[in-house]
Amino acid sequence: MDKLQIKGGVPLEGEVRISGSKNATLPILAGALLAEEPVVVGNVPHLRDVTTTIELLGRMGVTVTVDERSRIEVDSATLRECKAPYELVKTMRASILVLGPLVARFGKADVSLPGGCAIGARPVNIHVAGLQAMGADISIEGGYIRARAGRLKGTRLVLDTVTVTGTENLMMAATLAEGETVIENAAREPEVVDLANFLVSMGAKIEGAGTDKIVVQGVEKLRGTRYDVLPDRIEAGTYLVAGAITRGHVRVKNARPDHLDAVLVKLAEAGALVSRGDTWIEVDMRGKRPRAVDVRTAPYPAFPTDMQAQFAALNTIAEGVGTVIETIFENRFMHMLEMRRLGAEIRLEGNTAIIRGVERLTGAPVMATDLRASASLVLAGLVADGRTDIERIYHIDRGYEAIEEKLAQLGAQIKRVPA
Ligand code: EPU
Repeated sequence: MDKLQIKGGVPLEGEVRISGSKNATLPILAGALLAEEPVVVGNVPHLRDVTTTIELLGRMGVTVTVDERSRIEVDSATLRECKAPYELVKTMRASILVLGPLVARFGKADVSLPGGCAIGARPVNIHVAGLQAMGADISIEGGYIRARAGRLKGTRLVLDTVTVTGTENLMMAATLAEGETVIENAAREPEVVDLANFLVSMGAKIEGAGTDKIVVQGVEKLRGTRYDVLPDRIEAGTYLVAGAITRGHVRVKNARPDHLDAVLVKLAEAGALVSRGDTWIEVDMRGKRPRAVDVRTAPYPAFPTDMQAQFAALNTIAEGVGTVIETIFENRFMHMLEMRRLGAEIRLEGNTAIIRGVERLTGAPVMATDLRASASLVLAGLVADGRTDIERIYHIDRGYEAIEEKLAQLGAQIKRVPA
């Protein structure tokens, strides 16, 4: 298994191109199951989760082809089996996203229950309850969600909690339901909007995506389409923090600044000069030590949980004390314990981390525990004195395309080596 080896201390300089969004690509590939004709998806990032999704569709008998420009064509005409097996779901919880499309289009789905997760319990009860309210008959058998249905019926759904993939699953299911579905307390994340735009390009009738009330008028069928995925806001945010933490000057291009407002406010609070154009963002720390910032995660448009670990890393070497409050997932602080091994001063009190910035971190071997946790360890490694080895980097390959190449392009001393 590979590990990342980083020699810290280089201020990052230069520009980096942001890839397509992981969390938009996954629902869009699942949503392709709704179309009766082939669907072509572009700007797809090279990531392990994308490969897992392709494998999942392939196991169902769906024909998936990738062209020389990394566009993915999904043709569900050859589908044989409406099943998401445990061995794939356990490696990627987002596999649950096939549930809504399968039930809506084929009237049946057997999707393994995801089970536990490194960052929290992450139940899928809201996905299940929503489909039941639309007329699906659902039971749990042998660890699988077994769903059977005739044509789903539109209804009014009030989601208990704001859930991103829950909103996406139910919105997808509603596109082929009979009549109108209203989703109240819907997630407003840009990835939900991107999925809605993709579905609309296939002929779906959806209004209100990006607000907390989504209204879907069901149609009889959906056609094929060609669609490019939006840029990854979390990847962009991570490289901007990399610029700030190393006291450098980094520009991300092919990005969507309007999706990062809450993050950019915090970078400015940390003392960075932040500038932005239509498709780029620049952070200039001007060689200064960052100031500690307080962040509190909440659903979009507030500060994203997927950027919490990166700002925790920033606070470890900042001037002053910063608190990080995690309100979405109950166990998303594993990186804090690893960062202590680099000399970070972090006190944990429930869902709050109180981080007192130190003058310097020192390199050490550390272990990645989940995707964003590994990103924070890379960031800490970039400023730690000496060498930091990060093990279990398969977590990072799930969500960051060619991270060592992109960081090396900015001047970082980083390489991937066999463990
Ligand atoms: N929840 C329930 N019941 C449900 C669904 C969710 O109680 O049926 C709870 C969860 O346990 C959690 C909260 O609702 O406490 C919000 O979770 P949500 O469902 O929004 O998370 P998700 O859809 O499973 C997506 C992203 C995550 C990101 C979260 C929050 C994808 C594929 N995943 O997960 O991304 O952290 O939204 O924004 O879109 C990542 O990329 O590293 C990642 C974990």
